[in-house]
Amino acid sequence: MKKYTVLLLITFMLGACSNTKPTFKQEHISLLPKPVSFQLKESSFQFESDTKMVLQDESQQKAANYLIGLFKKAAGYDLQVLNTKTDDAVVFETVEGLKEGAYKLEVTPNSIHIKASEEHGFFNAVQTIRQLLPTAIESKEKTASEWFVPCAVVEDEPRFEWRGMHMDFSRHFFNIDEVKDFLDYMALYKLNTYHMHLTDDQGWRIEIKKYPLLTEKGAWRIPNNQDTICMDRAKENKLYTIDESNFKEIDGERKYGGFFTQDQIKEIIAYADDRCITVIPEIDMPGHFKSAIDNYPFLSCNEESGWDTVFTYPTCLGKDTTYEFMKNVLSEVVELFPAEYIHIGGDEVNIKSWEKCPHCQKAIKDNGLKDEHELQSFFNRDIEQFLQSKGKQFMGWDEIVRGGLTKDANVMWWRNWAPDAPKIAAANGNNVVVTTTAAYYFDYLNEGTTLERVYNYEPIPEDFTEAESEHVLGIQANLWSERIPSFKRLQYQAFPRMLAVAENAWTSKGNKDFELFNNSVEKQYDRLDVLGVYYYIPAVEGLEKDIAFVDNTSVNLNLAYLLDGVEIYYTLDGSIPTKTSLKYEAPFTVKDTVEIKARAYRGDKFNDLKTTKVIRKDYKEAVNVNPKETGLKRWITKGQFKKVEAIKTPTTNNFTKVDRVALGDLKNEKNFSMIYQGYFKAEKDAIYEFETRSDGGNLLFIGDEIIVDNGGYHGPRKKYGKVALKKGLHPITIHYKPSTKPKMIDVSYAIQGTPLTPISNAVTNY
Ligand code: ACM
Ligand code: ZN
Repeated sequence: MKKYTVLLLITFMLGACSNTKPTFKQEHISLLPKPVSFQLKESSFQFESDTKMVLQDESQQKAANYLIGLFKKAAGYDLQVLNTKTDDAVVFETVEGLKEGAYKLEVTPNSIHIKASEEHGFFNAVQTIRQLLPTAIESKEKTASEWFVPCAVVEDEPRFEWRGMHMDFSRHFFNIDEVKDFLDYMALYKLNTYHMHLTDDQGWRIEIKKYPLLTEKGAWRIPNNQDTICMDRAKENKLYTIDESNFKEIDGERKYGGFFTQDQIKEIIAYADDRCITVIPEIDMPGHFKSAIDNYPFLSCNEESGWDTVFTYPTCLGKDTTYEFMKNVLSEVVELFPAEYIHIGGDEVNIKSWEKCPHCQKAIKDNGLKDEHELQSFFNRDIEQFLQSKGKQFMGWDEIVRGGLTKDANVMWWRNWAPDAPKIAAANGNNVVVTTTAAYYFDYLNEGTTLERVYNYEPIPEDFTEAESEHVLGIQANLWSERIPSFKRLQYQAFPRMLAVAENAWTSKGNKDFELFNNSVEKQYDRLDVLGVYYYIPAVEGLEKDIAFVDNTSVNLNLAYLLDGVEIYYTLDGSIPTKTSLKYEAPFTVKDTVEIKARAYRGDKFNDLKTTKVIRKDYKEAVNVNPKETGLKRWITKGQFKKVEAIKTPTTNNFTKVDRVALGDLKNEKNFSMIYQGYFKAEKDAIYEFETRSDGGNLLFIGDEIIVDNGGYHGPRKKYGKVALKKGLHPITIHYKPSTKPKMIDVSYAIQGTPLTPISNAVTNY
């Protein structure tokens, strides 16, 4: 981690021969997001305690204040502001014609010139200067450093106006100091929109003076399953530890929660505004409203509060009192938040409650609506008109498209599986923000939604016309906090992927390059270290599945990608690895069944624990049969078995011959089971892996032994198992009991370490 500091010092010394000011090298510069153009020049500008700043008008003040603040903290300087023009200074100049956020920057040995047309441009220019300064500028304490900025000419402007990050305060809460730190990280990477998900079933997080119970009671819960999962994970990973400050004793019960007072909300908004960041509040309605309904039960259809099968009971949309309540809440919200957009959620509503409710059904009839989706749109329109009367714009998740979209509703597209929603919205002239699960759900693990995937995801759908593309306001990544109980874990989920969102939002498509970006990201880690940000480091790969062997096996522990300073530590005794455990240097040999636990470390940062079993197996001998035909016997039995475990392989002749395992046209059948039987042909002595995918439940046997236990009763699910087989034929049996709506049964196999293929060409019958 010290490497770059050392390199820079060497560079300074080299550059110091002819000029006391060093010349920088391109490879030591990391600007994220990548500017439109950056030309590095000889020499550098040095900030000193008497460096002056020249300001011309109010639009430059926030940018100047930010720079002053950085130097005050990290250098102990009090940079002085002048209103008279001098050249040896940091000069802010307002010019005509640059778009919002755009700026020009020229750094010479004696001055820094910043040009922009409005405050966002000046602010962004200062963030570029911040990234060109030594990482010590991020220090919260006075630090010894020389504050050189390389001479350069920069021209820059953003691709999108909405460059957003979202935090969910309901599932787990984050306090005001954490919010402020997060806003500083956003500012550093020119992200300008902060979406606060303030209310949901699991807790109400904003004080509403008219309805005090929302926070007196609705902000506190008996620890729920999201808490217990995190507490359980905390046993092996301290990032999952829930801070004690989130617990409070209420009426003799230990409760989890927290909320922002209106004064704190104002403080957050002001802090964000100083950083040119707009704060968008979300009050999710009419679903995701349990924390309010619990305390104001008149809001739901039959005063019921709680969970139906998947979602909670929503508010009733047939009672005037609901509309009144929402508007009273929103009246206070619009007073607090200066943002143009107010987000009202609108996602994942359990409309079954409305189907049964006389009030809702009457509202549908009286207003000539077709169904419950149109009822939700009717409600949205009413709220939209209310917001418009307050000078605000309505925004919701893409479900708001379904029952008919109003002209002015703005759509946040999250469901990749609903590609029509953004298209309908944009074609209708409505604005769209892209926050899709395919790339921008940062609660998903880094191993799946990788940095590269986030970076390479093009937010504008391919089928958008030019005119529709104009309606894409920008992009945003979301940090849903069901499994994010601490600010450190939040940082781990956000970094470094937030840098990919920043560059995707800022840098034009043609100016992007993952290799260059990745190099820049690596150089940002030193800065993030000074900021105290806990970022994701590459995980140990290759332990996703158990490893089977017969005599002995060599175990490799690799990293998903290489990063300076990352080391792997592991244990073979079931204990959790620390930096005093075995350090991985080279592949090692295992002769007996063991459990491997491995973890990557970079300094004191570590990745999630990876665990696998390395299992010793004995070969199964092949059977001596001589089948004459390929394929499998298949029995279909009606209605007999509740669960796959109860199935017995039939011995009747009532079977058909099939050449593969598949559901085929049985998709429309109900209440049946399938049994397949035949021989699996092992081409050589080896460890074989079988994988099954099915809904309901399935079991795969070789001989009498269950090799893949995908049993029980569940939705579509993948499972695998391993077995050592001698070359030749082995009896294989597969039992499948589908769920009530049969979906799939697929079986594939491979010799361990090679890609899976469907089983069809390796099975045979007699
Ligand atoms: C969402 O993830 N329910 C917007
Ligand atoms: Zn109702």
